[in-house]
Amino acid sequence: MVYYLRSINYKMSDSNIKNEISVPGNIVMSGIRPTGKLHLGNYFGAMQNYVKMQNEYQCYFMVADLHSLTTHPDTSELKDNIFRVLAENIACGLDPEKVALYCQSHLYETSELYLYLNMLAYKGELEKTATFKDKARLHPDNINAGLLTYPVLMATDILIHRASYVPVGKDQEQHLEMARNFANRFNTRYHNVFPQPKAFNFSSNLVKVPSLDGSGKMSKSENQMATVYLSDTDDEIRKKVKRAKSDQGPQTPNSEMPEEIKNLFLLLDLVSDKETSQYFLEKFNDCSIRYGDLKNQLADDMIKFISPVRQRAEELVNNENYLKKVMKEGAEKASASASATLKLVRNAMGLNYF
Ligand code: TRP
Repeated sequence: MVYYLRSINYKMSDSNIKNEISVPGNIVMSGIRPTGKLHLGNYFGAMQNYVKMQNEYQCYFMVADLHSLTTHPDTSELKDNIFRVLAENIACGLDPEKVALYCQSHLYETSELYLYLNMLAYKGELEKTATFKDKARLHPDNINAGLLTYPVLMATDILIHRASYVPVGKDQEQHLEMARNFANRFNTRYHNVFPQPKAFNFSSNLVKVPSLDGSGKMSKSENQMATVYLSDTDDEIRKKVKRAKSDQGPQTPNSEMPEEIKNLFLLLDLVSDKETSQYFLEKFNDCSIRYGDLKNQLADDMIKFISPVRQRAEELVNNENYLKKVMKEGAEKASASASATLKLVRNAMGLNYF
């Protein structure tokens, strides 16, 4: 009898819960919405980081199809987009053997944690979120509850693996802060289950990938001619680079570089070698530069960089069985981690009546 009680005590004791919730602290999670085609900005801002992280961390990378439903209820192109995003990620160097690469809607545990976290999210803070306000303005006829709770779903994606690091760009920082708030509230109200997820970047300075029209950065939807996609053909790349904004060239030696020329040099730094960029910089400084030559070189080097990725992605997209296998195995790995978290969550919340 005594033994029986002790074993119950042991199971329920706090120290046991604390032992169970220790997480390795090297878990990485990120997601990418399957809306729009991936471009050089995605590559240098996100995917390049993913590829480096896969060797040092336990990584969960996900295609956020449920998030896309908050703004894109028409699903006719969803499947093709998901397969393309998966193929492009693998073509960029993500190894499905090393990481869990999966599709958000395949991880059923997400719905359950999303429900619990929704009780910890306040209407006021959700309404104040910048992305909510932007999207509500853009689609005034479809301000649905899913859109309002978009940050809760994103927090769920991260917390369900008890991830510590989230490689995302600046535009996602507010969402990440909300994820930390939800995690804190849960830990304080119930038990300590979740670590604090932090934004992660390999290099200390964020890489800027400027658009070709002289202002802003490359983006999925804005100005397609100013953005170079990973699926662009060699001709398309050449055409876009040729049309990039420039001017008649510097008139006095060592003059200040206009924004659009700086941008061309930034792009050169990303895809060309150091000597090339140095060579054109010297020509700029002594006013002998011809932007046509610089653009030709930039186009050549971009093509050298993108065309193998494009070809590999095309092969993968045509190999549907392989991509299905990747998704299935990814979902299995993700589910193992998610169900372990949910067990802790239910225990912490006292939802364990058996
Ligand atoms: N909201 C992210 C974006 O629009 C995508 C995303 C969904 C995500 N779930 C995530 C990013 C979890 C990081 C972690 O880019």
